[in-house]
Amino acid sequence: MTDLNPQAKQMADESMVRGLDAQARAIWPQEIVLLQRYRIPVNARILDAGCGTGEGSSRLAELFPVAHVLGIDIVDEHLHLARSRYAHLSERLSFEHQSIFELRIPDRSFDLTVCRHVLHSIPYPDRVLAELARVTRPGGYLHLIAEDYGMLHFQTGMHDLREFWHIGPAAFGAATGTDLFIGRNIYGILAGMNLREITVDYVIVDTIRVPRETFAAILEAWRDGYAQPISELTPISRDEATACFNQMIANIRDPRGYAVWMVPVVCARVPTDRSA
Ligand SMILES: C[S@@+](CC[C@H](N)C(=O)[O-])C[C@H]1O[C@@H](n2cnc3c(N)ncnc32)[C@H](O)[C@@H]1O
Repeated sequence: MTDLNPQAKQMADESMVRGLDAQARAIWPQEIVLLQRYRIPVNARILDAGCGTGEGSSRLAELFPVAHVLGIDIVDEHLHLARSRYAHLSERLSFEHQSIFELRIPDRSFDLTVCRHVLHSIPYPDRVLAELARVTRPGGYLHLIAEDYGMLHFQTGMHDLREFWHIGPAAFGAATGTDLFIGRNIYGILAGMNLREITVDYVIVDTIRVPRETFAAILEAWRDGYAQPISELTPISRDEATACFNQMIANIRDPRGYAVWMVPVVCARVPTDRSA
């Protein structure tokens, strides 16, 4: 049977906490504009599915200052950290241990359902998307960051980083039953679910829009958390993976260097004529 949480160890690692912090600092300033498009009530109910340490949930609670936000995850350490970090928002922001595969939440509960940086890391994303659509009210929105590891570009150097990103994610995905290219595949899944008004936008994390140190911190966290599993699940050795990540980090830190990570942000609406 396919492991429903093949990245459990990496998700709970200290490097993930650092990475989520850097990712939110890099992505959120551009993501805000996309979230502000949604026509949701001021006192909206918002779900952050796979909330991790609450980087997105807390920002959602601040962006929508009367909304109620529920963050759910299966890593208790992340939930504890989120509750203590954002205690000042606790009247409107809560965190619960729940799995996105089987939410203990009634149908049609949320005006906006957010799922950031999760769908690439789990098998059966179609099952999770169906569950997210179930708990979203008719006319409500799904807001999804669907990563795609074919959308990272670096300058050439000693190691061929195009080969790294070509071979690594395909092998990692095959070994874990996950789709590390879901950014390009999710449109078809959502269209097949009969969701409406599907849009695909991009947050551009590059060395012009994002501080180099923030972008570098993301790659450092990935190196520290993933060099070992890459060596176990792909033909790339731990040393090779580390060297490739170090080359990317140097590219980002080079004041004349340019690198980019295109992050797909996908939105869809639950049809208003959806039967109960
Ligand atoms: C890369 S983190 C993203 C965290 C957060 N959404 C953010 O944007 O900072 C992915 C999260 O998904 C969670 N996750 C994985 N499988 C899950 C499941 N079945 N149910 C709930 N959360 C899950 C992991 O524990 C991890 O915290």
